[in-house]
Amino acid sequence: MITLIGVSKVYRPRRVALLDVNVHIGKGEFVFLTGASGAGKSTFLRLLYREQTPTSGQVIVLGQDVARIPMRKVPYLRRQIGVVFQDYKLLSDKTVWDNVAFPLLVTEHPPREIARRVPAVLEQVGLLGYEKNRAGELSGGEQQRVALARSIVLNPAILLADEPTGNLDAGTARIIADLIQDIHRRGSTVVMATHSDWIVNRLRQRVIHLRHGRIVADEYPGRYVHEA
Ligand SMILES: Nc1ncnc2c1ncn2[C@@H]1O[C@H](COP(=O)(O)OP(=O)(O)O)[C@@H](O)[C@H]1O
Ligand SMILES: [Mg+2]
Repeated sequence: MITLIGVSKVYRPRRVALLDVNVHIGKGEFVFLTGASGAGKSTFLRLLYREQTPTSGQVIVLGQDVARIPMRKVPYLRRQIGVVFQDYKLLSDKTVWDNVAFPLLVTEHPPREIARRVPAVLEQVGLLGYEKNRAGELSGGEQQRVALARSIVLNPAILLADEPTGNLDAGTARIIADLIQDIHRRGSTVVMATHSDWIVNRLRQRVIHLRHGRIVADEYPGRYVHEA
């Protein structure tokens, strides 16, 4: 599903974000990416959906060498990958419905299909009844649930989450973690960068730990690695 072969990423002029990373993530896995701030977690995720390309090495996602996909075909890759961020990245002036329907509109799904799928994913994240609310007026936890609904509305094979609970209190973070676990149980491969030791230790999934751009631990089931 995801394979990195000798992947390094150096930002100009010489900031090494990832260094000789070799890893395979199989279909249906749930992987936590951990490591201190600056360890390379976001860069790792950005390489998977072609937000960035590696300086060297190969990134294979869903059988394709991501750096070699022609620009015009990148949207097809991204349709198979849901992504959520710490800061939600919603269209805050738009309604919950508009935010979640957006990927379906862009991919030209018929109105009947949109009218069926939007409520279905809103129900999955516990937000039925919020369709007409503006996204920006919701609480942080609710906004992240909208972002999750939007990320899964195209039934992606892969869900990437970059510190999705970073701005949330513990109780709300737990709800988001449970929803991501639920998305995983429904068949998506999940890669989640996080600083939350208790979420990592509660879910007992694979843990890939980065330090200065290198993988220094890769364990299943893993526990949160506290840096000295
Ligand atoms: N767009 C960028 N340009 C230059 N340096 C960057 C960029 N993005 C990240 N970096 C640097 O690369 C390193 C890894 O960053 P990042 O992947 O964001 O780590 P993390 O998500 O683990 O905090 C850091 O030193 C960071 O400053
Ligand atoms: Mg980051």
